[in-house]
Amino acid sequence: MTPQSASTTAVLVCQGRAVADGRLGVGRFADPVAVRLLDPAEREVVERVRAGRTPGAHWGMAEEMVLHTAATMVPRTVAIDDAVREHRSGQVVVLGAGLDARAWRMPELETATVFEVDHPASQADKQRRVAGLEPVAGRVVPVAVDLANDPLATALTAAGLDESAPTTWVWEGVVPYLTRDAVASTLVQLAVLSAPGSRLVVQYQQRSVVATTLRAAMRLALRVARRPDPLAREPWHTLLTPDELGLVLRPCGFSISSDHSLLELAEGMDLPGRRDGSLGNGRVAVAERA
Ligand SMILES: C[S@@+](CC[C@H](N)C(=O)[O-])C[C@H]1O[C@@H](n2cnc3c(N)ncnc32)[C@H](O)[C@@H]1O
Repeated sequence: MTPQSASTTAVLVCQGRAVADGRLGVGRFADPVAVRLLDPAEREVVERVRAGRTPGAHWGMAEEMVLHTAATMVPRTVAIDDAVREHRSGQVVVLGAGLDARAWRMPELETATVFEVDHPASQADKQRRVAGLEPVAGRVVPVAVDLANDPLATALTAAGLDESAPTTWVWEGVVPYLTRDAVASTLVQLAVLSAPGSRLVVQYQQRSVVATTLRAAMRLALRVARRPDPLAREPWHTLLTPDELGLVLRPCGFSISSDHSLLELAEGMDLPGRRDGSLGNGRVAVAERA
């Protein structure tokens, strides 16, 4: 991330959800808003992948990457949606929101205020993309915060978060992009704002030779094909085991109630990539504040 440029991985995961909508995890997964958040050139790749054209002149690593991303988005989105639905609270904070469309697609948020926190550059980009789209959430409050440098607690309190009421926190696909220090400082501030009964839903990555190799191979192929690389400016910094996650959450007053790999969460879903092991390193944990 740079101060000027919005997240390109946020676009990639949104493309993945747009590809998956109505195609993958049908009956469990849906994100009809994702495609509406994409710019025309970003949509073209999605349309090619959805059309299922066989690899050829117009099918390359960009299409492979979006298809692979679609398969990982389905179990992670379903698990997080379920955890948000189960924990009805009047305020939901989405940390590193990117092109998350929950406030525009989940009727369960009808009475909730959704605070969407993101890096200022990504936040500005999101505001441009959602202009004209009516949220289904009661209220959506954008909050521009660089989690590596800015005080999260101050920004959220100023934006109207009520620290005496339980909050549902969604932290999806962001931990790897922060340093360990930024992860720890975010958690400490989040804990200060979390009344008893708050829930944290966190999607994180474990170290994995398969995932690292796949990522490197895709990046190399994109470079050779002279196609834009959405991962170029957003390296992974923090990969955690489930034990390590527990160790950082416990001192913040959160106890983990569930923690599953995307492979486990994808059980019963017919997804591409299930067999290559690449779903094994992503995880979704749910933690409660007593
Ligand atoms: C892979 S995207 C995930 C977006 C969204 N949570 C989702 O799953 O669709 C990573 C997100 O983390 C955000 N991010 C990365 N570094 C950040 C930082 N230092 N402060 C705030 N947000 C950051 C990016 O702006 C981007 O929106």
